[in-house]
Amino acid sequence: MSIINKAAAIGGGVIGAGWVARLLLNGIDVSIFDPDPEASRKVGEVTKGARRAYKQMLPGGLPKEGKLTFAKTIAEAVADADFIQESVPERLDLKHKVLAEIDAHAPANAIVGSSTSGIKPTDMQVAMKKHPERLVVGHPFNPVYLLPLVEIVGGEQTFPEAIEVAKELYASIGMKPVVVRKEIEAFVGDRLLEAAWREALWLVKDGICTVEELDDIMRYSFGLRWAQMGMFQVYRVAGGEAGMRHFMAQFGPCLKWPWTKLMDVPEFNDELVDLIATQSDEQAHGLSIRELERIRDDNLVAIMEALSRQNKGKGWGAGALHKDYTRQLAKLAAKKTPAKAAAKAEAAKPVKKAAKPAKAEKPTKAGKAEKAKKSKKKG
Ligand SMILES: NC(=O)c1ccc[n+]([C@@H]2O[C@H](COP(=O)([O-])OP(=O)(O)OC[C@H]3O[C@@H](n4cnc5c(N)ncnc54)[C@H](O)[C@@H]3O)[C@@H](O)[C@H]2O)c1
Repeated sequence: MSIINKAAAIGGGVIGAGWVARLLLNGIDVSIFDPDPEASRKVGEVTKGARRAYKQMLPGGLPKEGKLTFAKTIAEAVADADFIQESVPERLDLKHKVLAEIDAHAPANAIVGSSTSGIKPTDMQVAMKKHPERLVVGHPFNPVYLLPLVEIVGGEQTFPEAIEVAKELYASIGMKPVVVRKEIEAFVGDRLLEAAWREALWLVKDGICTVEELDDIMRYSFGLRWAQMGMFQVYRVAGGEAGMRHFMAQFGPCLKWPWTKLMDVPEFNDELVDLIATQSDEQAHGLSIRELERIRDDNLVAIMEALSRQNKGKGWGAGALHKDYTRQLAKLAAKKTPAKAAAKAEAAKPVKKAAKPAKAEKPTKAGKAEKAKKSKKKG
């Protein structure tokens, strides 16, 4: 069950809207600020897609959704939130401006997560003059409402207690938090993805393959392996009976062969963009982004459900978490049924409707970070 009472989302683009959808579908009220006049429509589209995906995961019905409110300012959005997720464009100056404003107006005990793909939290929290100790990077993967991983990274001023609270907050909405042990740019996920992305750009630029052929090489082979075991465990098995040691002995020398162009970066110019984008348009065969999103979501749900039945029914990897998460949501959904029935019965009576009882005050876990600050201020 979620331990978040009220969330705020600052930025409602691809990622911010994904956070909003996950939070709402967990029954959490969210207040959002995004200056884009189209933000409401875009967030609505993403939430619609998320709802559609969750209906496949929960044929028995979804929990009662949280309420979404569009705020006019950051101050208004964060005023009574205990969890705030920042998802504005990846520019340090903008992150500084937005985080300073969040920090100035958010309750002192609220945890602030940043969706940044690669900026170090130490470089961002300098803009937070009141409570920099409660900033963590909470780096998600798109689509945020389905992919469970969130990389948590603390900066030099982040308190360890804030990281612990953030772990609990993210886990309470069905996510798999992994704390990155040392603060580096791009963390772990994007460091790997950037390496693969650079190689992919080279391979297409050099005419070795098209974008479609490259994607086929990935999704008909190691992409399937990665989804269920990752890289190291897959290679352990690839080493045969002698496992990882044999694998390393066999392929170790290749590290020195010209198998990677990683040290070089392809020149980023209009020609490269045209080459990749044109081939990508052809690959889509006329499917719109929204249609591709639905295909992607259906496939992700199917993969996680298949994995949830593995390992003698206990689930494997993301499938084991998926099993727990869908159970948690089903429990939450079961709660709404009697209330809904009671409300209907009440409405049917010729007397005035009873006022909805106020939401019970839950102890805020985020309060721990504030307490920790008082008792353990770093030098
Ligand atoms: N797209 C991805 O796959 C991905 C994955 C993980 C993390 N991220 C990170 O998430 C963050 C957001 O990326 P995105 O892809 O959603 O970008 P996006 O361009 O889709 O959305 C950014 C949103 O922020 C809004 N915005 C701009 N200025 C703002 C302000 N001052 N206050 C509030 N909102 C403001 C914009 O109107 C827009 O809706 C970035 O830090 C990015 O690195 C992106």
